[in-house]
Amino acid sequence: MSLRIDELSPTEVRQLADSFETAPLEEILRWAWGRFGTNAGIGTSFQGAGLVMIDHALKAGFKFPIFTLDTNLLFPETYELKSRLEAHWGISIEGVQPSVSLADQARENGPELWKKAPDACCTIRKVEPLQRKLSSLSVWITGLRRQQSDTREKTRILELYRFDDLRELYIAKMNPMANWDRDAVWAEIKSRGIPYNPLHDRGYRSIGCQPCTSLAKSGENERAGRWTGFDKTECGIHTFLGASI
Ligand code: ADX
Ligand code: SF4
Repeated sequence: MSLRIDELSPTEVRQLADSFETAPLEEILRWAWGRFGTNAGIGTSFQGAGLVMIDHALKAGFKFPIFTLDTNLLFPETYELKSRLEAHWGISIEGVQPSVSLADQARENGPELWKKAPDACCTIRKVEPLQRKLSSLSVWITGLRRQQSDTREKTRILELYRFDDLRELYIAKMNPMANWDRDAVWAEIKSRGIPYNPLHDRGYRSIGCQPCTSLAKSGENERAGRWTGFDKTECGIHTFLGASI
């Protein structure tokens, strides 16, 4: 269910992205809901920005499908939060699974692949499952923020990517939280009473898989606690599509 180029042109995407810079969050989400309905889906890692966005969408009546990439290696606190959010919002959140079990991965690549080759592990457990999921969507909605790291500072609120070279299919990526800062996100989490990961109260700023997440030191960027010790700052889910067109 990806897009053909005549359904959403690069020029229209650029114009919309410009106008969304000053638009309220609901308005941005309304555009996606009105134009794509359930062919637009929200991917979440249950961190602040994604939760604020989902809360706004649901309160406005936009019932986007919501999914999380379940690597089978998330913190127990994250799995527990998923259940708490489902009860809080009265929805179900799809846990997209890798096609390779942890046992098979260990058999094929040796134990704890994340310690030897985190890029390979992320490809198996995040990127491939995401590609599979995105092939059923026209718009992928994320909680990316520019302030999170240097690699994210050029994020646009609406972007267009070539998804499938052979069939000339495209996918729009929408990042409605791109221009939000961390304080604004947390003010909304608190004022709207949205359940959040208790690990944040223990000092974790960015939370992913348990083996690859550690406490960031104060003064480091928000994602400094991810893949500590490796020259790696992205898992690949935000880079595999290449450059936006
Ligand atoms: S990550 O890509 O390195 O994990 P981060 O945790 O900062 O990124 O999240 C940024 C955005 O990427 C999230 O708001 C979400 O849209 C998407 N994302 C990250 N991890 C997942 C996941 N496990 N499942 C679904 N979406 C995810
Ligand atoms: Fe594997 Fe770590 Fe990537 Fe999770 S973040 S998929 S454990 S390398």
